[in-house]
Amino acid sequence: RKMSTKLKPKVFVTRRVPEDGINLLRQKCEVTQWDRDEAIPRHEILNGVKGVDGLFCLLTDKIDEEVLSTAGENLRVVGTMSVGYDHVDLSACRKRGIPVGYTPDVLTSATAELTMALLLTVSRRIQEGVTAVKDGSWGTWAPLWLCGQGLEGATVGVVGLGRIGFAVAQRLKPFGVSKILYTGQSEKASSAQLPAEYVTFDKLLNDSDFVIGCCALNSKTTGLFNADTFKKMKKNAIFINTSRGGLVNQDDLYTALKNGDILAAGLDVTSPEPLPTSHPLLTLENCVVLPHIGSATLKARNAMSELCARNIVAALYGEPIPCQVK
Ligand code: NDP
Ligand code: DGY
Repeated sequence: RKMSTKLKPKVFVTRRVPEDGINLLRQKCEVTQWDRDEAIPRHEILNGVKGVDGLFCLLTDKIDEEVLSTAGENLRVVGTMSVGYDHVDLSACRKRGIPVGYTPDVLTSATAELTMALLLTVSRRIQEGVTAVKDGSWGTWAPLWLCGQGLEGATVGVVGLGRIGFAVAQRLKPFGVSKILYTGQSEKASSAQLPAEYVTFDKLLNDSDFVIGCCALNSKTTGLFNADTFKKMKKNAIFINTSRGGLVNQDDLYTALKNGDILAAGLDVTSPEPLPTSHPLLTLENCVVLPHIGSATLKARNAMSELCARNIVAALYGEPIPCQVK
């Protein structure tokens, strides 16, 4: 479709998002928005996308063939305000020649920090401590009460040494870990800087005191952490996941935590989100669940919103997209 010089391209935004992105979009585009903090219902996305040139979406929105075909042939770009893009049907976008923008790097530090915070919360039993202070079960200082596992001298396994995995490994070093292992689809040249050793998934599970899930969710990583993998871990292993809930078979995790196959777990991501308050994992003292707040600093969220908008504007004005999913 030829763009008229007078008409601004239309963009639909699926949520109330930080102003940096919206202001930038408004300068160049005609914006309609689901201007609420709650996730947009499916029928409202389908309504909102009709005839638009660009779509600004979040990880809570499933962008599939139905959304694309409902948008129609004007749609020239999908931008997600996230680095994960497992909610976007890439092959459907590719078939239609629609590029997908995303927001790597700007949230890496924030997510790595939260991963460390969660790891330390679990390993030093902070959730149990805070609860004890509040509910009066804090009796007295006691030599063996709430003793956890330290990072000093530990072997840590990072599953997926990508941007966030690498940033987590960097932050582990000052804690005096003895070894960092990693696994993934390929060995990374950058691992020499840490250093971190490339090993098989099984060796990582077998040798690590801490196992941290930092990889993308895809068909190969779905359910990667299951009864079989938890059994291969050390009995004192602590499992952390800040990637996507789909990596974990949660029933198997519950059983592993209950039976003592592993020591404890910390999850920033679950399946589904929110995790129902009745979920068995929430009954366990050795499991800490956070509400998907890895990138939740104002700085990161502003930057994500702005980068998402820049990706969309660039695509709509025929310029190179700053961050396009390959
Ligand atoms: P990167 O693309 O830089 O890293 C992804 C890593 O996943 C790569 O190292 C890749 O390894 C690995 N990977 C992909 N497929 C497999 C596989 N089959 N087996 C093992 N490893 C695999 O992404 P980021 O580090 O920027 O982000 C990673 C993920 O973190 C995002 O996809 C997102 O889901 C999640 N995330 C969660 C946040 C939160 O709020 N909790 C915040 C931000 C991100 P290789 O290169 O060898 O293929
Ligand atoms: C992402 O960007 O993929 C996170 O899950 C949220 O920031």
